[in-house]
Amino acid sequence: MNRTWWKDKVVYQIYPKSFYDTNGDGIGDLQGIIEKMPYLQDLGVDVLWICPFYRSPMADNGYDISDYYRIDPQFGTDADVPQLIAAADACQIKIIIDLVINHTSEAHPWFQAALADPTGEFGRYYYIREGQNGQPPTNWRALFGGNAWEPIRDTGLYYLHAFGKEQPDLNWENPIVREKLYEMVNWWLDQGIAGFRIDAITFIKKNLDFPVLEPDQPDGLALIQKASLNQPGIEIFLNELKARTFLPHNCLTVAEAPGVELEDLPKYVGEDGFFSMIFDFSLADIDIKDDVWHVGSGWTVKDFRDHFYKLMIETQKIGWNANYFENHDQPRALNKYFPPEDIGFPTATLLATLLMLSRGTPYIYQGQELGMVNTPVDSMVEYNDLSTYDKYQRAIDAGLSHDAAMAKMFARSRDNARFPFPWDASKNGGFTTGQPWLKLNPNYTEINAASQMNNDQSIRAFYKHLIALRKNSPWRETIVDGYFAVYPVTDEQIIAFTMQKGQQQLLTLINFQNKAGQVPVPDYFDTLVSNNYPQLNRVSCQVKLLPYQAIVLAN
Ligand code: GLC
Ligand code: CA
Repeated sequence: MNRTWWKDKVVYQIYPKSFYDTNGDGIGDLQGIIEKMPYLQDLGVDVLWICPFYRSPMADNGYDISDYYRIDPQFGTDADVPQLIAAADACQIKIIIDLVINHTSEAHPWFQAALADPTGEFGRYYYIREGQNGQPPTNWRALFGGNAWEPIRDTGLYYLHAFGKEQPDLNWENPIVREKLYEMVNWWLDQGIAGFRIDAITFIKKNLDFPVLEPDQPDGLALIQKASLNQPGIEIFLNELKARTFLPHNCLTVAEAPGVELEDLPKYVGEDGFFSMIFDFSLADIDIKDDVWHVGSGWTVKDFRDHFYKLMIETQKIGWNANYFENHDQPRALNKYFPPEDIGFPTATLLATLLMLSRGTPYIYQGQELGMVNTPVDSMVEYNDLSTYDKYQRAIDAGLSHDAAMAKMFARSRDNARFPFPWDASKNGGFTTGQPWLKLNPNYTEINAASQMNNDQSIRAFYKHLIALRKNSPWRETIVDGYFAVYPVTDEQIIAFTMQKGQQQLLTLINFQNKAGQVPVPDYFDTLVSNNYPQLNRVSCQVKLLPYQAIVLAN
């Protein structure tokens, strides 16, 4: 099989808990994905990335794994996996799954054994260190809040967790741990999994000097990222992981890799890189500063454009992009990138056009194809996400009023992506016959899959059209394999670029503003490939763009 078989694929991300519930317990399940396979096939996607369905106490909804080999009963049985792979295969769809190997759950038998005997064999599976004068070993702040070291009873010992305290970090320095993980990765590949989305992988190497850092907030703590993100020596682990697992199986790997600097990009996604591609955070987190939800960045469309161009150009020099605007950790893109009054068909299809015409693999998150938006809530109890609770508290601690903090949660809560998928206009959007684990966005009576499937003018129909362009159209090779170049325009609110392959050239124009724009376009771009408006205004070598118009022209 071709080493880069994944290059022309379109990926669709599923959050199983919120996709479709078949047994009325209010929680989406693997049978739900199997049942909805025709929906996915109709959309035209080729690969499903399914978020964790392993055994888990669900402190972080499955990103806290207690058994890497078994399916959590909430999601179904172990037998559902081969059935899922077969059902997907029958639709020419491949499955990739989350690989969460920076940490386990505290309920994992390894960690339980480590707690029972912190200085014994399993203690060395994790980072366990002595405190100092009754204080934790360092002042690192965990990503989900508080000190990243958690005391082990009254032993004076602490274990390290980069994320929640329910998610102890595995000690990658221990070769036995690495062996056990490789064995597990290979086992999954042997089940017929086509690859992995690799969770938080740039965290696996720690600064082993365990330095106390300069505090960066009044809590006296400093971001753990400073001592455990993309640290020197990580390449040894990542090369070994790849050589022992991914490479022999020729699988698709997409790494969640915050903190990778441009100069390190070749190591990650170059010719012999660790991964097929990585998720960059510059566009997804453009609205906030340092992962603090209540501090806005004051970004502009020009910033967005600059990040986008840079990402395209720098990655093209050495490898392949993973393009996305949404995932299970992000609010809905429409709310992030546009003022509320502008959310609608033009803005949703503008983002779709940018996503699907960019160079790299497009990742669509469930519901994005319907133009889903953030869900209003009345109180914190309507949220489930542990990070949302932490970020709310931090906003309050920083002096925000309850209402102001709630507005930030509405804008940023990860649950915005996790509110259940609206299948139709019936009760609870047809997601479940029971009580849904999170409520439905109240707009489900209007925004739902059934209504859009019957409407060839819908946002979903537009996604389908763009996916088809990438898969079977006269321009497919240029879209997938073309050379990206910025198309210079003076208006800084317009994103414009070409893709070229051989004699064929595509020009994408994205008018990222609620007013008209104008771009000079030579006559030889005479074929209209895509347009999110019924009309194209073109007068003597000038294309006039309507608010949020997105068009693609070919020569
Ligand atoms: C990644 C996941 C996120 C999870 C975290 C800890 O960022 O995408 O959902 O909470 O890792 O595993
Ligand atoms: Ca269920």
